Amino acid sequence: MAKAKSVYICQNCGASSAKWIGKCPSCNEWNTYSEEVISKTKTAETSWREDSGARVHQKPVNIREVEKSSEERLITYDNELNRALGGGIVAGSLVLIGGEPGIGKSTLMLQLALAARKKKVLYVSGEESQQQIKMRAERIGIQTDQCFVLSETNTQNIFYQIKNIKPDLLIIDSIQTLHTERIESAAGSVSQVRECTGELMKFAKETQTPVFLIGHITKEGSIAGPKVLEHMVDTVLQFEGDRHLSYRILRTVKNRFGSTSELGIYEMQTNGLRQVSNPSEILISQKADDLTGIAIGATIEGNRPLLIEIQSLVSSATYGTPQRSSTGFDAKRLNMLLAVLEKRGGLRFGAQDVFLNVAGGIRIDEPALDLAVCASLVSAYHDIAISDKVAFAAEVGLGGEIRAVNRIESRIAEAEKLGFKEIYISKFNTKGLDLKGKKVNIKPFSKLKEVFEDL
Ligand code: TYD
Ligand code: MG
Repeated sequence: MAKAKSVYICQNCGASSAKWIGKCPSCNEWNTYSEEVISKTKTAETSWREDSGARVHQKPVNIREVEKSSEERLITYDNELNRALGGGIVAGSLVLIGGEPGIGKSTLMLQLALAARKKKVLYVSGEESQQQIKMRAERIGIQTDQCFVLSETNTQNIFYQIKNIKPDLLIIDSIQTLHTERIESAAGSVSQVRECTGELMKFAKETQTPVFLIGHITKEGSIAGPKVLEHMVDTVLQFEGDRHLSYRILRTVKNRFGSTSELGIYEMQTNGLRQVSNPSEILISQKADDLTGIAIGATIEGNRPLLIEIQSLVSSATYGTPQRSSTGFDAKRLNMLLAVLEKRGGLRFGAQDVFLNVAGGIRIDEPALDLAVCASLVSAYHDIAISDKVAFAAEVGLGGEIRAVNRIESRIAEAEKLGFKEIYISKFNTKGLDLKGKKVNIKPFSKLKEVFEDL
């Protein structure tokens, strides 16, 4: 007989404890533990000892004899989504789409559902009524008779409807609103999210139906509920962008069926999301042609490559000691780079105020931005603009040498994806790198001086 057992679970990271604790020992957050009822039928020990012969479905098979299923992919109308997924939707895969509220997750998914031609799509929403979904759909434009909408939060009811409709693709908006009868805790709690995802995963794997889950994001930027969710699903996509700007980026954070260096780019318009096939328009559109002191650096944030604009201003100091001001970049590192430029590049910053800014209000502490910072400073010093088709990715040493940085391939791939023509990197980064056959021209250097002569 199942015995109801309650445990305390950290709502931030999913760690559990038998009694309540104020501070989570695993993620150091305060006051995140809440009680959740879990009915466990057996402990791990008894289920291991017990002879479960009757329940065995799968036997170990020699790997040579495992039949290969041809990896079937559903190619959607949305090329950006196809790309982010590594070339279409894999049958039976579970995809999680995370993003801040209002960024456009529901719009993206509804648009996918509305574009269905031959496949049947079921869009389940726990957040909006069928009328609200209809209003949104009319904004986007309905062209299909294969899209079904359901406003429901109980997983058992959802599965009941699935049996009737037999969709080829299931979309859940959002996983935090679902609840299963098998667990007593409130919708959105860690154990509910975990259990509901588990049920959906079973459904996906057994019927080979792909399932998209929309997930909310906490203020720290991770998907609400636990990391556990990210471990369970096959693919995690992150939908991001500034809510006040119209551009949106769909990043692959995890993908069991493809690379994580892909990204899709959209623009939010009044009638839905438009695919942006030439992404460099984002960076270029914001920039006047010949502004000096601007250089683009290729950095890695977390595990994602990111191209970022460095701006600097050099002007003669009017009052005594010249100022050094840096926003978004380490001030000590700026001073070091100024010294290197002075000593190795012959530039005189002694009587100059220097202001440095990382555009977009982002803070980056990565040495790989050094070369972009130097380029931006030199551009500002000489008042000569650098082409906006050029990116930089290298560390600068005290001797003025250009040093290698990690994950250069992803940086180059990102620059290539965003339409850059040239990328300056370290000579020591070229080992094993295919310099040809790329749309972006790779320029390896070993000395700071050579870079600026080349520029
Ligand atoms: P939504 O998909 O509801 O965001 P999420 O599900 O991630 O919370 O997107 C909401 C925003 O998008 C909202 O501010 C309105 C805007 N929007 C448009 O600009 N154009 C459109 O065609 C649609 C449907 C929404
Ligand atoms: Mg939504």
